[in-house]
Amino acid sequence: MIVTVTMNPAIDKTLDVENFTGGTIHRVTKVIQDAGGKGINVSKTIHALGGETIATGFLGGSSGRMIEHALDELHIEHQFVYIEGETRTNVKVVDTTKKGFVTEFNEPGPTVTQRDIQTLTETLELYAGPSTIFVFSGSVPASVDKDVYGFLTRKLRKRQSTVFVDAAGQLLEEAIKAKPFLIKPNAYEITRHFNLSEDVSEETLIDLGKELLAKGVNTIVISRGQEGAIFLDHQRAFKTNGIQVQAHSTVGSGDAMLAALAYGLDADIPYEDCARLAIATSAGACTTLGTKPPARELVDELVKDVLIYPLWP
Ligand SMILES: Nc1ncnc2c1ncn2[C@@H]1O[C@H](COP(=O)(O)OP(=O)(O)OP(=O)(O)O)[C@@H](O)[C@H]1O
Ligand SMILES: [Mg+2]
Repeated sequence: MIVTVTMNPAIDKTLDVENFTGGTIHRVTKVIQDAGGKGINVSKTIHALGGETIATGFLGGSSGRMIEHALDELHIEHQFVYIEGETRTNVKVVDTTKKGFVTEFNEPGPTVTQRDIQTLTETLELYAGPSTIFVFSGSVPASVDKDVYGFLTRKLRKRQSTVFVDAAGQLLEEAIKAKPFLIKPNAYEITRHFNLSEDVSEETLIDLGKELLAKGVNTIVISRGQEGAIFLDHQRAFKTNGIQVQAHSTVGSGDAMLAALAYGLDADIPYEDCARLAIATSAGACTTLGTKPPARELVDELVKDVLIYPLWP
């Protein structure tokens, strides 16, 4: 079973307008509304690959109900904790007359109390066990302690569950101390963790990955955008190529990668094939609009183009 956790979901609302300027009235030519948040995107991609997942986290108010409704329509199971306040709506205004000119408005999201964290912990513990994979991804509301992924990882590992964490900054730092099974930093996130600038060599990225392995993480996947990824665990390391695709939106490609890795592990797919699937799924995700998952048929086509280059032993 794969349980995704989204602490700060959102309704993503995209408005198309012409000649965007502040302080004036615009006629909106198109509106797209979607249930968003990194864990929710992971659940959607697992579902698109043919896997089963339960989406959890915090929701509030009528926006929260809309997200649940969207998941129901996709036949994705969910078990969110309801909190005071309203789940955020993030608005993207796309100026259709200027390519790539997007203005974003991101709400802070509702306040999460210690009691809410307690309720979520109890919910997750109900699902915990040796055959459960938990995926924690994305940022958390400002009111939540930065140790929250670390705290929950410790609790769930005690029950023999497998934990994946995709986070940055202090959230990642605290999570690493709890020794999650897998982390998936991108090159920026892993170099920032070590206070380095992003433009380091591949050898340095591998060394940084090894340092994180030494801290007790089982698998490190360093994603490198269109250059593919580096996979390290205690037995070996390899890298892959990136796949050439017609990219529409690379936002959420990391979520797609995490989804494929969780799906592959849950389905007992051999590790190298999981890596191939992760590269194909994430490249496929770049070809769709927004964070929409790729079709399984496309992933199965792209998987044939993934090459594995052993690094060590
Ligand atoms: N332009 C691209 N072409 C092909 N594949 C891509 C491209 N961008 C990303 N990918 C695939 O997606 C994976 C993850 O991308 P990236 O390293 O950008 O993740 P990320 O920064 O965590 O993304 P996000 O957090 O927005 O989901 C890459 O390892 C690669 O397989
Ligand atoms: Mg990411």
